[in-house]
Amino acid sequence: KPIHILNGPNLNLLGTREPGIYGRETLNDIKARCEAEAAGLGLDCVFRQSNHEGVLVEWIHEARADASVLLINPAAYGHTSVALHDALKALDLPIIEIHLSQPMARESFRHHSYVSLVADGVISGFGALGYVLGIKAAAEIIANGAA
Ligand code: DQA
Repeated sequence: KPIHILNGPNLNLLGTREPGIYGRETLNDIKARCEAEAAGLGLDCVFRQSNHEGVLVEWIHEARADASVLLINPAAYGHTSVALHDALKALDLPIIEIHLSQPMARESFRHHSYVSLVADGVISGFGALGYVLGIKAAAEIIANGAA
């Protein structure tokens, strides 16, 4: 089964959105890096982005049957969404949370994550490299038979 990589609100604006914080790479650049990394490890990946909380909830539901590991950058919904938290809690798969920036080093409203409470691991602060690191972690989890 493929790795599912979900991206939350405003991440479609990467490249031009606060580049000092989020870098100059676009979401399409990150998608290409993820696909290359996954292919190199012999894995398929499904890479998606939505600005809508309910769409993300439904994609998490889909992952229940269709994914081996879920990587998610919930963006701002990580700080606000009990619905994402509940959907992830009902997902019996390894969950890796990713942030480009390091939210703990930013405003206090970014210090809490409803997703971290149900994630197996969190990678933050490494920019787009965090996605690559997340895929490496997913590959190792799959190889170890945990997914
Ligand atoms: C983010 C961090 C969040 O605090 C913010 O709301 C985002 C992006 C990141 O990738 O650094 O939209 O998830």
